[in-house]
Amino acid sequence: MKLVVTGGAGFIGSNFVRHVLARHPRYTIRNLDKLTYSGNLHTLQDVKDRRHTFVRGDIGDRRRVQEALKGTDAIVHFAAESHVDRSILDSTAFIKTNVLGTQCLLDAARHAGVKRFVLVSTDEVYGSAPTGEKFTEESLIAPNSPYAASKAGADLLARAYFRTYRFPVIITRCTNNYGPYQYPEKFVPLIISRAVKGESIPVYGDGLQIRDWIHVMDHCSGLDAVLHQGRDGEIYNLGAGNEWTNLEIARRILQLVGKSDSLLTYVQDRPGHDRRYALNSDKAEKELGWGPQITLEDGLKQTVDWYLSNDEWIRRVTARTYRAYYRQQYDQRASTMKKVLTRGGKK
Ligand code: NAD
Ligand code: TYD
Repeated sequence: MKLVVTGGAGFIGSNFVRHVLARHPRYTIRNLDKLTYSGNLHTLQDVKDRRHTFVRGDIGDRRRVQEALKGTDAIVHFAAESHVDRSILDSTAFIKTNVLGTQCLLDAARHAGVKRFVLVSTDEVYGSAPTGEKFTEESLIAPNSPYAASKAGADLLARAYFRTYRFPVIITRCTNNYGPYQYPEKFVPLIISRAVKGESIPVYGDGLQIRDWIHVMDHCSGLDAVLHQGRDGEIYNLGAGNEWTNLEIARRILQLVGKSDSLLTYVQDRPGHDRRYALNSDKAEKELGWGPQITLEDGLKQTVDWYLSNDEWIRRVTARTYRAYYRQQYDQRASTMKKVLTRGGKK
C-alpha cells in the first residue's frame, strides 16, 4: 500500500509512522507536514527506513498536495492545529488548516482516486459529556472551543464528501492521547517537563475536569484497524475507558517524577472548558476487534521514563518557542492590517 500520512512530524502522526513501518513491511509512507511549531524533524530522527519519505508542505497548498498524492492508495489525515488554548487566543490558523486545509486535501484526494481517506477527528466535537453518559457515534456534536469547532468542520466536510460524492472517507474520534513525542504544551508532557525543573504546575479551575486518557500506541492500533477493516462513510469512536480528573493525573505524574504535590498551582480556568470527555467505543470493539491494551499505570510510567531520558528532544522542539511562533503570526496580521488601513485611507 502507498500511504500518505499528513502531520506525520507531530505527536500522533509520528507514532503512527513508526507503527506502520514496523507492522507492514511492504507499505511505503509519504509524510506531508508543514512543520509548524508542533511538528519537528527531530521527532522523526530515528526513522531511517527508506520506505518513509518526508515532504514539507501545507495541506492547504493545492499544487503541493496534488504532487504529494500521486499514486496514493490511502491517506491518514492527522495534520491540524491541535491546542485548545491557542485556538482561544486566535482561531485563524485553526480554520485555515483544520477546515480549509482538510477541504483542499479531500478535493485533491477525490480527484486523485484515493481509495481510502481516514480523517483523524476527536471526541471534542461532541462537547462536554453529562455525568453518567458516554457519547456514541450517533450522539449530536456540540463543540465548545474554536479548536473543537474547527475539527467538527473537518469532520462534517468529510461526512459530506461521502454522502455527496461517495468518496471513501472514514472518521475516527479519539480521546486524549498521551505518550512519547507530545509537544510539551499539552497537559501530560507539560507536567513532566515542569516538574523535573521544580516549576509550578498550572491546574485550570478546580482541576476536577475529567478526561479519558489513551496511550498513543493504542490510538495507532485503532487507526490501523480502521484503515484496514473500517467501512466507508462510518465513524468510529476510539476511547480507553480511563476516566480521571486532571488533579488525579497530575498527582500520579508528580509521584512518578518524585516531586511533591505542592507544585500544583490553581490558575484561572480556561473559558468554555469542557467538564468531561467520555466515549462509548463498542462499535470499534465489535466491528474491528479493537481495544486498548496499555493500562494507564504502565503507559504513564513508560511516558514519564521516556521524557526523563529524552530531555534533548524537549530542548530541541521547544527551541522555536511559543513566543517566536506568536510574533510571526501577529507580525503578519499587523502588516496585513496596516495595508488595509493605508488602502482605506487613500480611498
Ligand atoms: P500535533 O500538534 O502534535 O501535530 C500536528 C502536526 O500537523 C504537526 O506535525 C504540524 O506540523 C502539522 N501541521 C499543522 N498544520 C499543517 C498544515 N497546514 N499542513 C501540513 N501539516 C500541518 O497534533 P497531534 O496531537 O499529533 O494530533 C494529530 C491529530 O489527531 C489532529 O488532527 C488532532 O485533532 C487529532 N487528535 C488529537 C488528540 C490528542 O489527544 N492529541 C486526540 C484526538 C484527536
Ligand atoms: P490538554 O492537554 O490541553 O488537552 P484538551 O484540552 O484537548 O483536553 O488539556 C487536558 C486537560 O488539562 C484539560 O482539561 C485542560 C487541563 N490543563 C490544565 O489544567 N493545565 C494546563 O496547563 C493544561 C495545558 C491543561
